Amino acid sequence: MNFNKIYQYNFPTVIRFGPGSSKELGPYLLKNQLARPLIVSDPNVSQLEFFKNIVKDLEGRNISVKTFTDIHKNPVKSDVYAGTEIYDAEKRDSVIGIGGGAALDVARAITLRIHHREDLFKYDDLQGGDVFVTNEVPHFITIPTTAGTGSEVGRSAVISDDITHQKKILFSPKLIARIVFADPLLTMDLPQFITAATGMDALTHNMEAFLVNSFSPMCDGIALQAISLIRDSLVKAVNQPDLESRSKMLIASLMGAVAFQKGLGVVHSLAHPLSSLLDTHHGLANAVNIPFGMEFNIEGFEYKFEQMAEILKLKEKSGAAVVRYLFELNEKINIPGKLSAIGVKPEHIETLADLALADFAHPNNPKPVSREDFKKLYLKAL
Ligand SMILES: NC(=O)c1ccc[n+]([C@@H]2O[C@H](COP(=O)([O-])OP(=O)(O)OC[C@H]3O[C@@H](n4cnc5c(N)ncnc54)[C@H](O)[C@@H]3O)[C@@H](O)[C@H]2O)c1
Ligand SMILES: [Fe+2]
Repeated sequence: MNFNKIYQYNFPTVIRFGPGSSKELGPYLLKNQLARPLIVSDPNVSQLEFFKNIVKDLEGRNISVKTFTDIHKNPVKSDVYAGTEIYDAEKRDSVIGIGGGAALDVARAITLRIHHREDLFKYDDLQGGDVFVTNEVPHFITIPTTAGTGSEVGRSAVISDDITHQKKILFSPKLIARIVFADPLLTMDLPQFITAATGMDALTHNMEAFLVNSFSPMCDGIALQAISLIRDSLVKAVNQPDLESRSKMLIASLMGAVAFQKGLGVVHSLAHPLSSLLDTHHGLANAVNIPFGMEFNIEGFEYKFEQMAEILKLKEKSGAAVVRYLFELNEKINIPGKLSAIGVKPEHIETLADLALADFAHPNNPKPVSREDFKKLYLKAL
């Protein structure tokens, strides 16, 4: 840390957390004189009972609802353009994202596009595009239905190019939701696989954020506390979910997104190319890679691994023990131990290594990562 430097910390928006909080959406819209929201979700979530009930509740209050749910699993630019057209044609006054990270990212990107009509990727943060986000954005509300990405409290949206599948990041402090309704009841029926994969995404955010080498004690505290919550609840949430385990996972995922304003690291850079190249679910890609990425990070950062081992209540306070814990955790929640089990083939490794090196996450990793390191890590995990 450098005590002669000025740091910036951003903490999120109003969060209404707890069972039933999503029922506050209707009264909130009325109070804010919003009568024509566009609800953005995905094709699965929009078929679920709770989603239909939310729409019914709003309509019962004379709120005009239009839904847009035709989005890809790893969202692309044309999804955002299609949603924006509906917003315009239907004269909407606000955007509500209801869903997992994919739906919330599309909702946030539509929120940006409403008053920013240059090519969407002109606003790509990695190209310094955030400076072009100068106009106002519509009232934006998020309701998470998975416990993983924490996108509900984020300020960025990950959107891919339709053709190259390259992931771009749209970022602006203006894109933070005005209010989050985080209702664990909406996550009660998440299937086992999604609970496991998204939960490991949340764990990866917190561990990577904690390891980022910058002076951010508030985020470090949040990350450690979230790691502890995940330790207590992920296996339960996967195998015998109850309100307590679902609640702990939902808040831990939200905390991860607060903590990772510090940055992420090698594990996310190993994971992103799997989604671009093979359409692997983001959480699953992190889950398989995290034990290998964490093992890579131990040397030189033993003291941080000791802290994580402590919070995980491991007998041995060491990096090796944390790595063992991660392998065992994956096994308990039925995550495959190897990349070959999720469709990665030896012939993919060179391309994956190129994409991982070009990825935005690893420059914040506490240890520099070379192309050779990525290749070795993929081969080890294969
Ligand atoms: N903006 C960010 O900061 C950020 C961070 C990490 C990841 N992401 C992005 O988030 C996306 C991944 O999000 P995710 O892991 O939440 O997955 P997701 O949004 O793809 O959802 C996973 C699956 O779960 C289903 N689902 C969602 N809620 C459900 C519920 N309550 N009950 C039953 N099924 C439900 C969805 O329909 C989908 O099929 C990726 O596109 C990734 O790039 C964004
Ligand atoms: Fe993630």
